[in-house]
Amino acid sequence: MIITTSRNPTSEMVERGLQLSERFSGVYQKRYRRTIHSFLEQSDSVYMVGKHGRDVLYSAYSDQPLFFHPSMAKVRVQRMLRGELDPLVSISRLRRGDSFLDLTLGLGADSIVAAHVTGENGSIVGIEKNAYIAEIVARGLTYWQEEVPGLKAAMQRISVVEGDHLQYLQKTADNSFDVVYADPMFKNPRLHSNHLAPLRPFVEEGVMTETVVKEAKRVARHAVVLKTERGSLLFSQLGFESQENHRSISYGVIYEKGGCNDEACDRHRGTDSRW
Ligand SMILES: C[S@@+](CC[C@H](N)C(=O)[O-])C[C@H]1O[C@@H](n2cnc3c(N)ncnc32)[C@H](O)[C@@H]1O
Repeated sequence: MIITTSRNPTSEMVERGLQLSERFSGVYQKRYRRTIHSFLEQSDSVYMVGKHGRDVLYSAYSDQPLFFHPSMAKVRVQRMLRGELDPLVSISRLRRGDSFLDLTLGLGADSIVAAHVTGENGSIVGIEKNAYIAEIVARGLTYWQEEVPGLKAAMQRISVVEGDHLQYLQKTADNSFDVVYADPMFKNPRLHSNHLAPLRPFVEEGVMTETVVKEAKRVARHAVVLKTERGSLLFSQLGFESQENHRSISYGVIYEKGGCNDEACDRHRGTDSRW
């Protein structure tokens, strides 16, 4: 891994590049007037510290650089602002004030939607195993400028944790989050939305296992939700009972401790809990 900066960097950007080179066990190289392509002739991947928090990750195996953008999250939040239902929100029964654990942060689109719904008293933690993706997304969530009302604040409420989700679950107490959610990479990449294509060279491909689901159930107060390919055997193998189908993907859910049906939720969370 080579770490560099965009052209004409500030001294802070150079300092950050040097720090990241230590953290990623990579090599810092000054940018001067060199092209990214010339760095990629020396190394499989290049992390570029960009201006205003806009870092970019390049891979020799992809012509699509990876950078943070709220992508589909923005469209989904705008739909919700118009009163439409979001499938993840409806199947998880996520409400204002809830806590949401995203086991597979990726570019953070699902976490942003969850942060919008849960509001300023909610809490969102997103786990990402790939250190480069975790860094790019954490920077993006902090610095992205956004006009959609509330979206920037929602992004800034997401805590990014770099690490393995099983390890995180194992050290987390019972019933710590209202909803625990996973969206692992699909076996068939064409089924995943296009905006995830730049993640491919860097992602952890791991699938959900019985152990992860068992831990997720212990940590979830109300629901464990899995998004994966429509018709996947994973749902029945891992005990996800109810499913909601959309073109090529499905959401499966395990409602914990009786789930969060409307009456019980309202009693538990107060009468003003609806978003
Ligand atoms: C399909 S993407 C998630 C996309 C995300 N839902 C979004 O809205 O952008 C899956 C992500 O999970 C990460 N991942 C895979 N296994 C993991 C693990 N064991 N712990 C943490 N993250 C993991 C991958 O590196 C990848 O970034």
